[in-house]
Amino acid sequence: MNDKNLTRKEFLKLSGAAAGAGLLATSGLGSVASAQASDLLHRPIHSTGEMIPAVGLGTALDFGDLSADFEKRKGAIEALFREGGTVIDTSPTYSDAEQIVGRALDELGARDKCFLATKTSVRGGKQEGIDQNTKSYQDLKTNTFDLLQVHNLRGTEEHLETINGLREEGKVRYVGITHFRDNQNDDAVAVMENHKIDFIQCHYNLLNRSVEERVLPAAREHGVAVMINVPFARGGLFGPTAGAGLEIPEWAKDFGVDTWGKFFLKFILGHEDVTVIIPGTINDYHVVDNIGALRGRLPTQAERERMFQFIADL
Ligand SMILES: NC(=O)c1ccc[n+]([C@@H]2O[C@H](COP(=O)([O-])OP(=O)(O)OC[C@H]3O[C@@H](n4cnc5c(N)ncnc54)[C@H](OP(=O)(O)O)[C@@H]3O)[C@@H](O)[C@H]2O)c1
Repeated sequence: MNDKNLTRKEFLKLSGAAAGAGLLATSGLGSVASAQASDLLHRPIHSTGEMIPAVGLGTALDFGDLSADFEKRKGAIEALFREGGTVIDTSPTYSDAEQIVGRALDELGARDKCFLATKTSVRGGKQEGIDQNTKSYQDLKTNTFDLLQVHNLRGTEEHLETINGLREEGKVRYVGITHFRDNQNDDAVAVMENHKIDFIQCHYNLLNRSVEERVLPAAREHGVAVMINVPFARGGLFGPTAGAGLEIPEWAKDFGVDTWGKFFLKFILGHEDVTVIIPGTINDYHVVDNIGALRGRLPTQAERERMFQFIADL
């Protein structure tokens, strides 16, 4: 997906304005990050009450290419912390994303600023999952994952057992599952009904609202935090909007939308059962844009339906 709704030039202008207002660190990971974070929407992880910024960073698409520009990817991670974000979602199956995230966190000295989520992602059995987890700790250069998730409900029973064991050893803080297909919604609900998990990760965006029916209500009922993947439909939402040169509707500016990225993210954040969204990007200026969705008010339910209809009518 190559459509961008914020160009590098616009980003530099935005950064300049923010720096002028004392909002950006001038070098490295300055202490302004924590001051700035207080402006941002945070939501609780229900099982503990811990608050996390409600937008983070995903690493599934282009992030894991070791032959590509490492500094660019490190720059996206640096921008996340500088802007007040903390959550990074990765997986041993996102090419070499874990190695890149691990190296970047190490070079930035930022492991303790990060809420680091990864996955057990094997088609094989319990031991394959354990072996994969061992490599993930090495690649991510850490002794603890903030969140370890069973990827796409593959081997849920045996891997949840392993992950719960790691939690008892202090090597995992939160336990979760992920999925992104509509036909897995019922299975995801069954896991929430039959296991004690802290997080569910699922698919929700303006083109696909299927989790509103059963998954989000079940998460609420069972006190499970919700992490949203593919918020931009893998970038597909930008084609008919930013890519077509479409202006942001005036009425969306009432709730702080000035880019298409914010339009799509604020729609999701407007659902109160969403804990955190993890938009994927390798670009620092898109991280700035995405974290920006955490400022200002959220759309009301009526405004959310208007947003949905606007996109449906394109
Ligand atoms: N089953 C699972 O567990 C599962 C499944 C799918 C995804 N995930 C997780 O969810 C994350 C998000 O999903 P995704 O990365 O597949 O898709 P996505 O977040 O819906 O879309 C990513 C695309 O949006 C573009 N983008 C990001 N921010 C933008 C902005 N502000 N303006 C314009 N374009 C922007 C990116 O381009 P640039 O890179 O060029 O900025 C990239 O092409 C993944 O990275 C992964 O961590 C998990």
